[in-house]
Amino acid sequence: MILPITAYGHPILKKVAQDIDKDYPNLDKLIDDMFETMYYSKGVGLAAPQIDQSIRLLVIDATPYSDDFPEAKNFKKVMINARIIEESGVEWAFNEGCLSVPDIREDVMRKPKIRIKYFDQDFNEFDEEYEGVAARIIQHEYDHLEGVLFVERLAPLKKMLLKRRLTDISKGNIKIDYRMKFPFQYKKIKK
Ligand code: NI
Repeated sequence: MILPITAYGHPILKKVAQDIDKDYPNLDKLIDDMFETMYYSKGVGLAAPQIDQSIRLLVIDATPYSDDFPEAKNFKKVMINARIIEESGVEWAFNEGCLSVPDIREDVMRKPKIRIKYFDQDFNEFDEEYEGVAARIIQHEYDHLEGVLFVERLAPLKKMLLKRRLTDISKGNIKIDYRMKFPFQYKKIKK
């Protein structure tokens, strides 16, 4: 099932997501739905807050980058309760985009290497290191679990120049070919 994606300005994108355990209801179905939603909207990663669930779950499939970056080849992951333990190396720029912030792409500076602990879909624990684009996609999705969007990592001037476009996104004044959940819809439901 394709799920709507929370748009810039939606409060769930600002929250720190919570750990889950094996008994989390319908987890396999949720993971399948997240992959389906990600593929449909042509993303390479999706974090649970983007489908309006504040839990530490993310999915990645870096296949679209595999021609240009060898580390992206066969890089398909489900990560549960992820914690980045260490980031190292000299920061590099990579052009990032986000399904919650459609039609905006900007260079973001991040460190090239990470060490991360997480559980897979069957709750096996892993402690791994990643580099390059693989690390980059994890870092971007991981930020979603911490309530951070890539536009918040831009220099203040750059962010200021994007302000109107970001406001348009949060108000739903955009053309997109996938379904989104906007902040005003959230307020309507809560009242
Ligand atoms: Ni994103």
